[in-house]
Amino acid sequence: MNQHARVDDKPIPFIDVAAQRRHLGSAIDDAVARVLAHCQFIQGPEVRALEAELAAFCGARHAIGCSSGTDALLLVLLAWEVGPGDAVICPTFTFHATAEMVALLGATPVLADVRADTFNLDPESLVRAVAAAKRLGLRPRAIIPVDLFGLPADHDAIAAIAAAHGMLVLDDAAQSFGATYRGRKLGTLAAATATSFFPAKPLGCYGDGGAVFTDDDALAARVKSLRVHGEGVDKYDATHIGITGRLDSIQAAVLLEKLKIFPAEIVARDRAAARYAKGLADVAIAPRTGNESTSVWAQYTIRLKPGRRDGLAATLKAQGIPTAIYYAKPLHRQTAYRHFPVADGGLLVSDALAEEVISLPMHAYLDAAVQDRIIDAVRRALAG
Ligand SMILES: Cc1ncc(COP(=O)(O)O)c(C=O)c1O
Repeated sequence: MNQHARVDDKPIPFIDVAAQRRHLGSAIDDAVARVLAHCQFIQGPEVRALEAELAAFCGARHAIGCSSGTDALLLVLLAWEVGPGDAVICPTFTFHATAEMVALLGATPVLADVRADTFNLDPESLVRAVAAAKRLGLRPRAIIPVDLFGLPADHDAIAAIAAAHGMLVLDDAAQSFGATYRGRKLGTLAAATATSFFPAKPLGCYGDGGAVFTDDDALAARVKSLRVHGEGVDKYDATHIGITGRLDSIQAAVLLEKLKIFPAEIVARDRAAARYAKGLADVAIAPRTGNESTSVWAQYTIRLKPGRRDGLAATLKAQGIPTAIYYAKPLHRQTAYRHFPVADGGLLVSDALAEEVISLPMHAYLDAAVQDRIIDAVRRALAG
């Protein structure tokens, strides 16, 4: 840092994992030390304890720890035997991991548009994506809605469409574990839910991690087998083709400590989001909050008039305020995904959002003074 920088220009973290680490203090060190003492690094007691806590937290019958959010998605798709000839509808405005495992298994991701007010799968575009899949001779097998930036998708509408077409729903809650939809926590709203514990996520570990949630006993048993190479009665009995998809005991130990403070952190994130909304609603389009859903605010993403974003990002950067663009390129604009079919009617909302969105620093340890500095800087930049 420039030693002459004014206190006001001190760099602000985008997500402050170090502040959380200070807050947790020796609790994490002690939890990791317990694993180092018993040496059960794989499938140790912390993994089972975490799975029980996660299931109780969200109300799902089963929580199954796995090696990442991507592997959580893969394990469910493998369990459902999704493959060539199957269409899986995914929103195009998401991180590409949502559609990645579908393509890896030889199935076809069919990309649908999102709603401008929630950034989440548009049920009308979803219906048009199913029609496109059928016209191409594909079997519509599953839908992967994403609860983007921490806010649940419209799960009731999606469930009704899935039921009408005999499709399964795998909820990609990588960014949104802890959020609620009509009074229910994510993890219980679809046949299966996948989440990520990547360090920057609202509930993150200190490496890679993830989980699958389901109420379906048979699916849970299959996922548990697949995460250990498709094991049968024991690990030297192979009944399915699987992967190394387990969550490490050390990561589970970290998550058990973090889960204790997670409810308070969700309240703090919500308070920060409300402060942003109050300070910015007249200069930008603030993200929607409704009475149907609560968000865990993985990102605080505002929309600007086209052409304003680059100037704002540069002005804020000069003042030590980081921003990020999620997502400048929706999946249908990505080299690896642009050949996949899209919903009839196009993906116009996603293309517009890709030009308009910008995310501001957001975490549970964002204090009011720092946030006022960010709000003030955004207001001055947009007025100029
Ligand atoms: C929407 C979405 N899906 C899936 C993933 C994959 O999670 P992981 O990085 O744990 O594999 C991410 C991670 O950023 C994500 O944002």
